[in-house]
Amino acid sequence: MEAIKSSFPVYFNYQVQFTHGLFDKKNPLFVEIVQQASKQPSKLLWVIEQEVANSQPELTAAMDAYCQHHQLQQCGKPLVIGGGEAIKNDSSLLKSIYQAINEHGICRHSYIVAVGGGALLDMVGFAAATAHRGIRLIRVPTTVLAQADSGVGVKNAINYFDKKNFLGCFAPPYAVLNDFNFLISLPQRDWRAGMAEAVKVALIKDAEFFYYIQQQAQALTQRSMPAMQHLVRRCAALHAAHISGSGDPFEFGSSRPLDFGHWAAHKLEHLTAHRLRHGEAVAIGLALDSTYSYLAGYLAQNDWQQILATLQDLGFTLYVPELSQQLDKLEHPLNIFRGLREFQEHLGGELTIMLLEKIGQGKEVHTVDIALFQQAILLLKELR
Ligand SMILES: NC(=O)c1ccc[n+]([C@@H]2O[C@H](COP(=O)([O-])OP(=O)(O)OC[C@H]3O[C@@H](n4cnc5c(N)ncnc54)[C@H](O)[C@@H]3O)[C@@H](O)[C@H]2O)c1
Ligand SMILES: [Zn+2]
Repeated sequence: MEAIKSSFPVYFNYQVQFTHGLFDKKNPLFVEIVQQASKQPSKLLWVIEQEVANSQPELTAAMDAYCQHHQLQQCGKPLVIGGGEAIKNDSSLLKSIYQAINEHGICRHSYIVAVGGGALLDMVGFAAATAHRGIRLIRVPTTVLAQADSGVGVKNAINYFDKKNFLGCFAPPYAVLNDFNFLISLPQRDWRAGMAEAVKVALIKDAEFFYYIQQQAQALTQRSMPAMQHLVRRCAALHAAHISGSGDPFEFGSSRPLDFGHWAAHKLEHLTAHRLRHGEAVAIGLALDSTYSYLAGYLAQNDWQQILATLQDLGFTLYVPELSQQLDKLEHPLNIFRGLREFQEHLGGELTIMLLEKIGQGKEVHTVDIALFQQAILLLKELR
């Protein structure tokens, strides 16, 4: 009997747009995006992060007025939910999104519009991708990290079994609408944290961008909007280009260059019980993997020093005690190197870690020298 072979490409196409005042009645962006698939009115279900609604009290009224003005069909009042990593740990919130989808009869041609930080977008994205096998999702990211990195991509997830992003899927959004005005109300900590992802992508892909961040470090920490807008745009463009141009948007292979610094970061988020923000943990992961790259002889000393100095100039802490707890007990649950195994397990296939050859150029390895990594951790501890 001859086998039936199936092989077909699936084409995805979405835009990442940048704007100010997304819900000003005169701003046509949102209505154009919603009406691009069909002029027929489609239903909109809003999910907004509580903290965003609190810090921008006029927001929900502006959305409502925008919808009335442009005759967009909203489903009830916006669902206002918490934010931050905690919502990815609480599966009852996921259920509340499914409930709203069910109650309002949201179909695959309707839209869920998620307004919030990376954690909310990950969680709502997962709900949108799984209800009815996929409802159109419009992401409106409200943090630096989400506008520059997480909101731009194709991954959605919640945490489960105490493991980060254990339940998740690859599902591209319908559109990503980055409104820079949301960044104004961000606490300094979150303003800073997102910049770690920009340093990450600059280090592996774009030396010029790294030198931009280095040069603008002070302006960036002092909340220069033009400097931040450039950072967000460039970082988002590099991520989007990687997703559409790498040939592996759904990560079937073992290589995951955009996860530079992330094996340790994910473990540190867990070991610190999320005391660290994702971006803060990434900054430490970048410092660690850059230090290892230097000690292993891949990266020049001068490049290594510039990387650490730039991260520090941005205000990042590059060492936390959780890095070195139970350092010699590799099987201890609190040992950082358990993160390597978990990273491989999550990714599948051969262990593949991105390191650095020089600023702007990564280098993948499949084995690591744990003793040298321990040395790297102790060096970061000394330099603190
Ligand atoms: N899907 C992906 O590809 C991907 C990539 C990177 C990171 N992530 C995930 O993203 C999450 C981190 O995202 P994040 O850094 O945006 O953090 P976050 O979503 O936890 O938000 C950080 C804080 O900022 C608050 N906030 C959000 N917008 C605000 C605003 N405009 N004004 C005032 N406060 C605001 C939130 O309430 C929260 O307290 C992590 O869960 C991480 O795993 C996902
Ligand atoms: Zn990240």
